[in-house]
Amino acid sequence: MQVNDTNKEFRPLIVAFCCNWCSYAGADLAGSSRLSYPADVKIIRVPCSCRVNPMFILRAFQRGADGVIIAGCHPGDCHYTSGNYFARRRMTLLFSMLDYLGIERERTRVEWISAAEGAKFSATMNEFAETISRLGENRRLEDLRCKE
Ligand code: FES
Repeated sequence: MQVNDTNKEFRPLIVAFCCNWCSYAGADLAGSSRLSYPADVKIIRVPCSCRVNPMFILRAFQRGADGVIIAGCHPGDCHYTSGNYFARRRMTLLFSMLDYLGIERERTRVEWISAAEGAKFSATMNEFAETISRLGENRRLEDLRCKE
């Protein structure tokens, strides 16, 4: 764990966009199966992974997120047929742009988690939170007007 200048333990802020039909249900299953994942993961439920506009991710980083993960249905299983294919393409472009801006690639991720994969949801979030904790606080793109 990283310790910042005020000697407080660093707790990463992680934003997880989860599609309603698979990943959000996977998170639900993780909860009802008593599988833990860090409280630092803030879930935002979206109808489909393709609903995640790249601006949402930039905005999350501006508002202080240290990591952003998009979770959707497995390819071929999207409730809207091909939404996750669009999301995957869009995020590939965005992630290379973030790379160019100096945001480490490990801070963003796309994962396919089905409604039956509560264990995968928990393991993915734990592993992602560990990676973000190792990377430390994200100061790139931070909008200081959003600071309290
Ligand atoms: Fe889950 Fe489209 S509905 S990714």
